[in-house]
Amino acid sequence: MNNPIGIFDSGIGGISILEKLENVLPFENFIYLADNDNCPYGNKSKEEIIKFSFKNCEKLIELNCKIIIVACNTATTNSINFLRSKISIPIIGIEPGLKPAIIHTKTKNIGVLATEQTLDSNLFFETLAKNKIEDIKIHEQVGFDLVKMIENGETDENKLYNILQNYLSPMINKNIDCLVLGCTHYHYIFDTIQKIIPKNIQLIDTITPVTNHTINILKLNNLINISNEKRYVKVFFNGNNLSRKFIGDDYKIRYLKF
Ligand code: DGL
Repeated sequence: MNNPIGIFDSGIGGISILEKLENVLPFENFIYLADNDNCPYGNKSKEEIIKFSFKNCEKLIELNCKIIIVACNTATTNSINFLRSKISIPIIGIEPGLKPAIIHTKTKNIGVLATEQTLDSNLFFETLAKNKIEDIKIHEQVGFDLVKMIENGETDENKLYNILQNYLSPMINKNIDCLVLGCTHYHYIFDTIQKIIPKNIQLIDTITPVTNHTINILKLNNLINISNEKRYVKVFFNGNNLSRKFIGDDYKIRYLKF
């Protein structure tokens, strides 16, 4: 089935997932929507996040997508149940990797860096309640302004370093040994984060599990593309021009109204 795989995020964050999927699924077509007109999602109300997410899905369905990947923790944790109740094609989401962190931690202290609305969402609470073990402590930090800086292609490395140091130091002082990166945008500041945290702290993101899950769902639903035509990858935005600082020059990026 050569219909495209649809992916959306509030901006460039989900391109970290698109890149990985492109590599492991070389025959699939992709359409990526960066809803940067409404970015960031992380400080919007739950109702607004649902409205944006549904609108993005409607556009992807109009563009004939066979499956949708919500490449945004904020959109997933606030809207995935609603989206699944309204849309009949498979929808895959991304959530902060609490489960792997709970399995890995030895110090029984876990840090989570995510947006305000992810940390405040019912789904985050439910996942925590389902998996948490009594004596494990979760230290949460909102990554205020990080998404905006990444979207703007903020080039001042010192500024980014100082902001991250302020966010991460309290968790480091609590003896965390796992740091969950609960926002797809943070993939692009991985190196700066790694410069700040001690070597014993494991960084956990969920890009690989989401990629593997996507492959399984495609197989299970007989949606794998078996045609050998040259594939396409289309990236669209609906606000200001997307900065290429973090995503490089490989993608042809175009404006689309959605
Ligand atoms: N990439 C989104 C996420 O994973 C960013 C959210 C935002 O726009 O604030 O949460």
